Amino acid sequence: MSQDTIRPSEGLKNVRYEIRGTLARRAHELQRQGYEIISLNIGNPGLFGFRTPETMRLAMIENLPDAEGYCHQKGIFPAREAVVMQQQSRGVTGVTAEDVFIGNGVSELIDLTLRALLNEGDEVLVPSPDYPLWTAAVNLNRGRAVHYPCRPENGFLPDPEEVRSLITPRTRALVVINPNNPTGTVLPRSVLEQLARIAEENQLVVFSDEIYDQMLYDGAEFVPMATLVRDTLCATMSGLSKVYRACGYRVGWVSFAGKMSGAADYLSALELLSSLRLCSNVPAQWAVQTALGGYQSVRELITPGGRLYESRAAILNAVASSEFLRLVPPQGAMYAFIGVDTKKLPDFDDRRFALDLLEQKHVLVAPGVSFNVPYRTHFRVTTLPDAPTLATVFGRIDELLQQYALRR
Ligand SMILES: Cc1ncc(COP(=O)(O)O)c(C=O)c1O
Repeated sequence: MSQDTIRPSEGLKNVRYEIRGTLARRAHELQRQGYEIISLNIGNPGLFGFRTPETMRLAMIENLPDAEGYCHQKGIFPAREAVVMQQQSRGVTGVTAEDVFIGNGVSELIDLTLRALLNEGDEVLVPSPDYPLWTAAVNLNRGRAVHYPCRPENGFLPDPEEVRSLITPRTRALVVINPNNPTGTVLPRSVLEQLARIAEENQLVVFSDEIYDQMLYDGAEFVPMATLVRDTLCATMSGLSKVYRACGYRVGWVSFAGKMSGAADYLSALELLSSLRLCSNVPAQWAVQTALGGYQSVRELITPGGRLYESRAAILNAVASSEFLRLVPPQGAMYAFIGVDTKKLPDFDDRRFALDLLEQKHVLVAPGVSFNVPYRTHFRVTTLPDAPTLATVFGRIDELLQQYALRR
């Protein structure tokens, strides 16, 4: 490296976020050349015509005059209190507004909560596949992400005994993403119970990312992790981005429950980090109370006739009629993590496929490797486009896979 090269921090050596990486940049280039790219790589509801509930916009506008200054580092009281009431209504006991922190999206809180916890070499158990910010943020904060497999052949469920076997004296925390991105798996109560016991026995902090908590299909039951964890600290994370289709507002929260004794120093450290960034975006915090109280419009989207329901159904149908594709039906969230039949396509490589699909068919998907899996046979699409667009997409995917099959 020449002397005038500016070297980036070595802290970023193991940090990746491929969803917005090379492929997305190439898609952008093609778009600038005038090509129409169908982008299914990011879960951004606004891109697909979803609107934030009007009442949330009104609440924010109404309170703009009160949103010009910094607020408390943990967030405005009405927003934190609304989170407390939501947690109470779900059976989580003992949470007060003092135990809630508002952040610029769950993203910021993932970073801050890990930074406040980890020392060099500390290990965090993270699901594979995961929403890759979790792995990235552990590595960025000097920790080591240890992946516990949620294998396709097991319906993307973890094996709690395998999770237990990965614990070492350095393990500090267990991450649960429920419903999961990218697989859409909703963890059954029995699995969550077992994970809660393992965390308690080993005094691991539980980070439960529940940002898709109300996006459920086929009667799947969502069980808040904080209702099951008693003898260790449980951090529940959620926000406005998905269920309330307001990802541009950048509002998320973390609420702490479970064993609070012994957590005071950790929570002070988190408050210090929150203070260093002064506060999170104030105007949008005024939409939280309105969002969480009252009518939950997301229900219209996830029931028959609703946009997310019908799009998911279109994907299930397309996969069922493809000779190459396999899918564990997602029970929640807004993604499908689709695999190919390796008997038919033994040389399949997810990255190569995603690039070919972009260059030749103008469809952008996220290859499975972006989600920290050891296999190269999967890709993720969002269920956000409407059903006709998805039919077009899957027509193009099958054309490409057919070409691959003929080339053998
Ligand atoms: C599981 C999961 N957690 C957190 C986030 C980040 O959300 P936010 O917009 O609140 O930062 C996402 C975004 O896609 C996600 O899928």
